[in-house]
Amino acid sequence: MDTKLMTETAKAMVASGKGLLAADESSGTCKKRFDSVKVECTEENRRAYRELLFTTPKLSDYVSGVILFDETLRQKTKDGQPFGEYLNKNGIIPGIKVDGGVHDMALHPGEKVSEGLDGLRKRLEEYFKLGARFAKWRAVITIGKDASGDNLPSWACIEANAHALARYSALCQEANIVPIVEPEVLLDGDHSVERCEEATEKTLATLFNELTWQEVSLEHVILKASMVVSGKENARQAPVQEVAERTLKVLKRTVPAALPGVVFLSGGQTDENATAHLDAMNRMGPNPWPLTFSYSRALQAVALKAWRGQAANVPAAQKAFQHRARMNSLAAKGQWKAELEKQALAA
Ligand code: 13P
Repeated sequence: MDTKLMTETAKAMVASGKGLLAADESSGTCKKRFDSVKVECTEENRRAYRELLFTTPKLSDYVSGVILFDETLRQKTKDGQPFGEYLNKNGIIPGIKVDGGVHDMALHPGEKVSEGLDGLRKRLEEYFKLGARFAKWRAVITIGKDASGDNLPSWACIEANAHALARYSALCQEANIVPIVEPEVLLDGDHSVERCEEATEKTLATLFNELTWQEVSLEHVILKASMVVSGKENARQAPVQEVAERTLKVLKRTVPAALPGVVFLSGGQTDENATAHLDAMNRMGPNPWPLTFSYSRALQAVALKAWRGQAANVPAAQKAFQHRARMNSLAAKGQWKAELEKQALAA
């Protein structure tokens, strides 16, 4: 294990005022996103869209790393530079999503388990050669009720996913790749913020137990957490300060201080909420770990809407994307202000 390399990678990923761009949508998810703006989901359109994102001016001022999908790590800029190489040359670390997606969990209707451990050791070796220095594995935890009215998530679902996340992490570290562990507690449903807090705490406590049992080096793991928010359909939406307080409370209860950093997913929050929540948590610091972003939708939605598959729209799309990256960079330092959003709209 090259702990020196992994220490450097992890530190750079969560450097002050920088976060990650999640651009690792599978082709299926990409199709959903492209459909929403009526763009055909061809390999070339996916390539062109990712090139738009990666070549955005000053991106490396705000973004330390990009999570790629397998296809994208093998694609090139229109000038023929492999994306991984291009990012690296421009001061951005390429990372790779390695889970094989979420699947229905046997005997647990309504719950999911992530697959993809088979053959992972070999894949990681290849990804390292292609330039990836960190990886991501996403598990999803659903809050709800099962057929007999019992609360979900079940212990079985939390435990199975935590176990897979720990096995994946061990394989990554063997390959000198920093694992991002992402147990996403979904915000879909009408559950209260209290239930989200409880499910998140149990999920993270179980995850760190598993990581410890499997002897994963906690100094070389990044947690990608969901924030403690109200279910999307709950009548009471917890305000920004409450989300920040509950999220930090859960993290402090469950996440070892040894971790080099915590990044957040946006999970379907509005762009501005994702920024405001991150900002509020950083204003409440000092915290035991750097807290930053690893957003897909909350960074990309504006870019996709501006682009709509038209080359002529690339500059406008890059401007909108750069703005969100800058806002989240400020939030990562606890220096964001809502007025900055209005000023940008007026400009
Ligand atoms: P969102 O920010 O859109 O939730 O995506 C983050 C991610 O990487 C999900 O795996």
